[in-house]
Amino acid sequence: MENKILVTRSSMPDLDEYIEEIKSIWDTHWLTNMGEKHQKFQKELIDYMQVDNVELLTNGHMALELSMQALNLQGEVITTPFTFASTTHAIVRNGLKPVFCDVDPMTFTIDSDKIESLITDKTCAIVPVHVYGNICNIEAIDKIAKKYGLKVIYDAAHTFGETYKGKGIGSYGDVSCFSFHATKVFNSIEGGCVCYSDREFGHALSRLKNFGIRNEEVVDGVGANAKMNEFCAAMGLCNLRHLQTEIEKRKTVVERYRERLSGIDGIQLNPIQENVESNYAYFPVVFDEKKFGASRNEVQDKLAEHGIGARKYFYPLTNTFDCFHNEFDVNETPVALHLSLRVLTLPLFADLNLEDVDKICDLVIACKRNYI
Ligand SMILES: Cc1ncc(COP(=O)(O)O)c(C=O)c1O
Repeated sequence: MENKILVTRSSMPDLDEYIEEIKSIWDTHWLTNMGEKHQKFQKELIDYMQVDNVELLTNGHMALELSMQALNLQGEVITTPFTFASTTHAIVRNGLKPVFCDVDPMTFTIDSDKIESLITDKTCAIVPVHVYGNICNIEAIDKIAKKYGLKVIYDAAHTFGETYKGKGIGSYGDVSCFSFHATKVFNSIEGGCVCYSDREFGHALSRLKNFGIRNEEVVDGVGANAKMNEFCAAMGLCNLRHLQTEIEKRKTVVERYRERLSGIDGIQLNPIQENVESNYAYFPVVFDEKKFGASRNEVQDKLAEHGIGARKYFYPLTNTFDCFHNEFDVNETPVALHLSLRVLTLPLFADLNLEDVDKICDLVIACKRNYI
């Protein structure tokens, strides 16, 4: 059996570097509850992300869920189904109703032209997702939000380290929520953060991540436990030192994929967006079976035969999840449905070597059948 290639591989610092970083925890015996590492990591992220404020959390999901709670949202939230379960679940778990907007066929992000028709007197917010690190139409969303007095909470789980028009991506919208999960471009094992500018919101969020405790005697929020511990913060501090190199390596991999797969009939690649400094988070490919001659599932099976993991990301759409018992009509988001049935993300991580990229591309191309 050939060596397996997984769809992703977590970035890790040298063991010695991590050990050096966590040594002081043995002096302080301070393992969690906003200790020294937590504070240092938070400060470094504010600089790195070029944002006003950062709140650290246990994961990207709690970043979304507690942000919506801290904003005290009620009613309907406009979002997209072409995303990870977390986005929709955060809305539903806050007692809010997701209203699904379709996505743009090229960027996979919310189709801003379709948002206004979904707004009702119950709409309180828009939760757009920067899918695969592709930036949503920020200007259009901002304009709509201002016109109707809506909050904008970006699911920025895929965009760590990106800038748009020279500004940190987390500085757009009311709130941006990032994931530092092990599989992301940047990880703190598990982890996440919220970027924001409104200090009142920040106070509310920091209380909610610690059970809603205001002080020793006052608990005035129904909070959760979403505090990042010291070991995760230490991992984040180490990984942050190497992030730029990791992104450069990812870029090399993505360029090789593009070189090999561009211009093939029936294959759609991720767009290169203007004014965006990319983090090269994912390599999605959309297969049009009629033109390419093989379906997405056939390509995935072919790769699997050779020990290569590729992921149907995102499939199924969140508005078709069993847990929602047919509450939503998937036909209202036809573009998202079309993409979810055809998209496959190919392996991508910093240490993926170019021979392996070539092997993956050879196998993908070998699936192509000419019907003419
Ligand atoms: C789009 C999106 N939103 C939210 C999340 C949740 O992040 P986490 O796994 O850190 O909870 C993820 C990833 O896992 C994601 O891909």
